[in-house]
Amino acid sequence: MTVDRFGRTFQDLRLSVTDRCNFRCPYCMPKEVFGPGYQFLPRADILSFEEIVRLTRVFARLGLRKLRLTGGEPTVRADLPALVGMLRRAVPGVDLALTTNGSRLTSLADDLAQAGLDRVTVSLDAIDPEVGQRMNGVEFPLQRVLDGIDAAAAAGLAPVKINAVIQRGVNESEITRLAEHFRGTGHIVRFIEYMDVGASNGWKLDDVVPAAEIIERLQSELPLEPVDPSYRGEVARRWRWKDGSGEIGVITSVTQPFCGDCTRARVSAEGKLYTCLFAGVGHDLREPLRSGRTDEQIYERLAGIWRAREDRYSELRSAATADLPKVEMSHIGG
Ligand code: GTP
Ligand code: 5AD
Ligand code: SF4
Ligand code: SF4
Repeated sequence: MTVDRFGRTFQDLRLSVTDRCNFRCPYCMPKEVFGPGYQFLPRADILSFEEIVRLTRVFARLGLRKLRLTGGEPTVRADLPALVGMLRRAVPGVDLALTTNGSRLTSLADDLAQAGLDRVTVSLDAIDPEVGQRMNGVEFPLQRVLDGIDAAAAAGLAPVKINAVIQRGVNESEITRLAEHFRGTGHIVRFIEYMDVGASNGWKLDDVVPAAEIIERLQSELPLEPVDPSYRGEVARRWRWKDGSGEIGVITSVTQPFCGDCTRARVSAEGKLYTCLFAGVGHDLREPLRSGRTDEQIYERLAGIWRAREDRYSELRSAATADLPKVEMSHIGG
C-alpha cells in the first residue's frame, strides 16, 4: 500500500474537467478577476477524454475508491455524459459523482444517470432568490437550480447533496431556510465554512461562520443529534433531525481541520496533480501522458508524489501560511 509521510493512503480523486464556469460566485470567481479578459486554459492544454480515462485507470491501481468530477463548472465541458460513460466502464467499482452548480441539470440529469453517474452534489447557497442570485454573480435564476436538483433526484442521482458556503453578513439568513427547504426530501444539505482558497476572494477570518454556530442556529429551531461518520476520513460531519426527517452535514475545514485523515488528490483540467486544496504548485502529468510514457511509468510517478506528500494546510493555517501561493478553487474544483 502506498502511504504518504503521515501514513495516509490515497482514495479519492477530484478531477477538474474545465477551468471555466458560467457563474461568478464572488467567493470563488469574482468578476473583477475573472472578467472578459481572463485567460482560461487553451483547448490544447486540456486533457482529452482519452487522457482522463487513462489517468483514472492508473489512479485506480493506486487505490482509487471515489471519483468526483469538478470544474470550474463541469457541465460546461462538451459531451460530459460521454466522459461519464467512458469512466464508468474504465473503473466500474468506483463511486462516481459530479459536483455542479446545477444550472444545466434539467437537461443533463437523465443522460448523466444513463451514462452511469452515481450521484450529484449541487452547490446552492440560498433559497431566497435575491440572495442566491447575488451569490452566483450572474443573476442566474435560482428556480432553475432547484428544478435541476429535482431532475437529478428524478433521474436517480440520489441522495443529492447540496453544498452551501456560508459567509458572515451575506447568507447567514439562509442557514435555516436551506435546512427547512430540504428537510424530508432525502437530500442532504452540507454547510461549508468559507475557506481561504486561492488568492482572489479577499478571505478574512471574520467572514467565516463557524460550524458550531451553524449547528446552534439550527438546533434552536429543531433538535439535531450527531451521526457517526460513514467511513474514516469523511469530510462532512453528519447530524440528523431527531424527528427522523433527514440529515445535514457541516464541513469544518477552518475551525476543525481534518487533514489527519485526508486521502484526497486533485487533478486540474490541464493535468496537474495537487496533493492539497491549498497547494501552491501542481505536478505535471500531461507531459508524461503525451510523451509516450507507459502506464507503469505514470503509476510510479503518482506513487512517488504520494509517498512524498506532507500537506496539512488547514491544520497549519496561520499568518505564516496566509501569504503562500495558492491555486484557485475554480482551477481544482474544491
Ligand atoms: P461525498 O459524496 O460525501 O463524498 O461528497 P463530495 O465528494 O461531493 O464532497 P466532499 O465531501 O468530498 O467535499 C465537499 C466540499 O468540502 C468540497 O467541495 C470542498 O469545498 C470541501 N472539501 C473537500 N475536500 C476538502 C479538503 O480536503 N480540504 C478542505 N479544506 N476542504 C475540502
Ligand atoms: N470556501 C468554501 N467553499 C467553497 N467553494 C468554492 N469556493 C469556496 C470557498 N472559498 C465550494 C463551492 C462548491 C465546492 C466545490 O466548493 O460552492 O460547492
Ligand atoms: Fe462556478 Fe462553483 Fe466557483 Fe461558483 S463556486 S464560480 S459555480 S465553480
Ligand atoms: Fe487535505 Fe489539504 Fe484539505 Fe488538509 S487542507 S484536508 S491536507 S486538502
